[in-house]
Amino acid sequence: MSDNIFEQPEVGRLLFSEEEIQNCVARLAGEISNDYKDKTVLIVSVLKGAVVFLSDLIRKLTVTAEIDFMAISNYGSIDSSGVVRLLKDLDTNIQGLDVLLLEDIIDTGLSLNYLINNLKTRQPASISVCTLLDRPRRRIADIDIKYVGFQIPDIFVVGYGLDYQGKYRQLPYISELNTEPQ
Ligand code: PRP
Repeated sequence: MSDNIFEQPEVGRLLFSEEEIQNCVARLAGEISNDYKDKTVLIVSVLKGAVVFLSDLIRKLTVTAEIDFMAISNYGSIDSSGVVRLLKDLDTNIQGLDVLLLEDIIDTGLSLNYLINNLKTRQPASISVCTLLDRPRRRIADIDIKYVGFQIPDIFVVGYGLDYQGKYRQLPYISELNTEPQ
């Protein structure tokens, strides 16, 4: 079997090409730039999946953007208990700031629900949510998502920051994960 990451049988049907993703990111950057005119937006990205999306998005924004990161250990998606542990907190004091939470994918919504509730206690001026992918079929927590790239059905996807067992985040496109033996 080839060790070329672009030729792995686990990477199945193409869902969104590099061009489609870049067009989508440009659209989202346009909407965000319009909504945060004359403001500084603090983009809070949730490690690790959202970093690829973040790096493309900020380079298309016309408003001033600062960035910070949070990391959580997510038990929620596994057992739906919603138990989330904070592994890395923000460096920034967000009191009075306009915060945009950035995700690669929202699934059950439990991770984001935890983060929003946590950040709200710090009294930011506003909190909005932007996600590249929205998979609403498994939603448990009701999240108000202001900016959505693509809605996807209940399938597992890899690429553009999304991983399978730590792999495939580096792919510039998004494909369906193929777990069928070849
Ligand atoms: C993914 C994604 C979100 C979370 C969404 O992270 O980046 O943080 O799952 O799931 P939920 O809506 O069901 O809570 P993951 O746990 O895969 O970690 P990673 O970003 O480091 O890959």
